[in-house]
Amino acid sequence: MSERWGRFYGIGVGPGDPELMTLKAVRVLERVPVVCYPQSTAGEGSMALAIASGAVSLAGKELVPFPFSMSQPHTTDTWQGALGRVLERLAEGMDCAFLTEGDPLLYSTFVYVYEHLRRHHPQVSLEVVPGVSSVTAAAARAGVPLAAGRERIALLPALYHPQDIGPCLESSDTLVLLKVNRMLDAVRRELEARGLVDRAVLVRRATLPEEQVLCGPEALDGRVRDYFSVLIVRR
Ligand SMILES: C[S@@+](CC[C@H](N)C(=O)[O-])C[C@H]1O[C@@H](n2cnc3c(N)ncnc32)[C@H](O)[C@@H]1O
Repeated sequence: MSERWGRFYGIGVGPGDPELMTLKAVRVLERVPVVCYPQSTAGEGSMALAIASGAVSLAGKELVPFPFSMSQPHTTDTWQGALGRVLERLAEGMDCAFLTEGDPLLYSTFVYVYEHLRRHHPQVSLEVVPGVSSVTAAAARAGVPLAAGRERIALLPALYHPQDIGPCLESSDTLVLLKVNRMLDAVRRELEARGLVDRAVLVRRATLPEEQVLCGPEALDGRVRDYFSVLIVRR
């Protein structure tokens, strides 16, 4: 046990292009000896780790995967072992960074780790380094302003609240849907009912080499169903 506990950083690595990582994210990652990253229990690779590796050499650092269940992201059971390992390093005085895709505090698995540490381990000092979110990256790549003046934006994780889509369309100027891939048909029906199909833009894998931007009916006909997609509807 060291006299000083290490600091735990939540690092936003941006939406995909490593050039969109902030100078601060790169500087912290170059310095810390321990790097954690979220990994789906389904065994898929980590997008956050791939992005960070494009900007910083992680060779020689201790890499700690945090397994998350996509169906039950709030459960702490899958990552308690990883957290125990990280707490040991923090107690030894080592700084640790947790990578998150986009911004750490926006629909990120990091939020569960952050709140758990705040509640159960108040001795750990926490710092969040914000990142470029997929929301602003998708708007930039699609060339669609999100809001100006007094306009209102609604941001929804479409996967969990399909019933909220209609009311949000009516009460906002711009609707942004994350995790939209599995709800595309329900979204299309809501937009058709309001004559808004032509206002839809789907951005898949924004800022990555596989990026696609589809507008109007093509955005909604299911030709692209990728988890890493954002749908923007600007009225
Ligand atoms: C768990 S949320 C993470 C959001 C992230 N923290 C952020 O700030 O963008 C995952 C969702 O973000 C969106 N997303 C993340 N990266 C993306 C990208 N490069 N292009 C399009 N959508 C992306 C997708 O809607 C995906 O389902």
